[in-house]
Amino acid sequence: MDIAQLIRPDLAALETYTPIVPFEALSARLGRPADEIIKLDANENPYGPSPRAIEAVARYPHYAIYPDPDQTPLRQAISGYIQQPVERILCGNGSDEIIDLLMRLFLEPGAAVVEAPPTFGMYSFNTGVIGGRIVQVPRDEAWAIDVEQVADAVEASRAKLVFLPSPNNPDGSILPRAAVEQLLRLPTIVVVDEAYAEFSGESVADLVGQAPNLVVLRTFSKWAGLAGLRIGYGLIPEPIIQHLWKIKPPYNINMAAVAAAIASLEDREHLMDSVRRIVAERERLFGELRQIDGLQPFPSRANFILMRVRDGRAKALKQALEQRGILIRYYNKPGLTDCIRVTVGTPDQNNQMLAAIRELMREL
Ligand SMILES: Cc1ncc(COP(=O)(O)O)c(C=O)c1O
Repeated sequence: MDIAQLIRPDLAALETYTPIVPFEALSARLGRPADEIIKLDANENPYGPSPRAIEAVARYPHYAIYPDPDQTPLRQAISGYIQQPVERILCGNGSDEIIDLLMRLFLEPGAAVVEAPPTFGMYSFNTGVIGGRIVQVPRDEAWAIDVEQVADAVEASRAKLVFLPSPNNPDGSILPRAAVEQLLRLPTIVVVDEAYAEFSGESVADLVGQAPNLVVLRTFSKWAGLAGLRIGYGLIPEPIIQHLWKIKPPYNINMAAVAAAIASLEDREHLMDSVRRIVAERERLFGELRQIDGLQPFPSRANFILMRVRDGRAKALKQALEQRGILIRYYNKPGLTDCIRVTVGTPDQNNQMLAAIRELMREL
């Protein structure tokens, strides 16, 4: 039997997604203990989870029992945090899962999804897995989207879904509220992915429910430092969410993540303190990077900074930093040639990275 013949041809042809290398594997590859690696490549939180979240995970007594499929206590806690009714909240195994569920709900094979590259990779990845078609409306030099072009693309492709992060990954730019309001007039679902909203202080979460076609995605991965536990959520109008409940895997979120997320919301003063420190560091780091000859950093409202590296040195810089145990993200795709993205770390991590970059930019 030829197994290859049985695989869906569109999936057999799909490009392999290259995720970030796990910490332990990197530690082995670089021959350095994990605590000596400065990991600034995946927009994780350098201060980690709230101690109360860690304690809640350790204390939870019912790991032998399946999770609550209705996610009630966590949805109630989120409702108090985000000022939206419980009925409009659905939690996922990371916000990635909500992206996947939305696509499963709306897309038939060949149906179009609009995105504005450069942007977060999961929209095109998931569209491919579902058998949909990605339609791209590139951003301008300042990473802004042209609302008219998006409208034309939606109309021409009859796209059912448009995915736009705010702040956008990888550049950190905000999607202006006025643009969201304009986009909501289109005959499509507008998904505003606010994975980094706690760092920008800007959100359109309050518009969910007022507009029938707005979905907002949020996560505990970034501001609450829970990326490894996988917990995110969508703010979703009732006519959409009622169908998502039908297709959601019953036990999609695990109870360790639920315990940690609830404890994080209870300890949000502490976590927002870390967020404020990261934002202050982002501004300092931006100022320092701008002084380095050969770098062009872009202003960011998230917990990372994108920059262009002159004279084709981006890849060499990434590799040389890796040899020193400093991990950053390197891109070599349309719109992002010669670009690197660094996550904002602690002041000490940022200083070590800056010193290494200054030295390497003179040497390379
Ligand atoms: C824009 C954006 N959305 C969503 C995610 C994923 O979030 P989660 O960890 O909740 O799946 C990321 C992670 O990098 C992201 O950059």
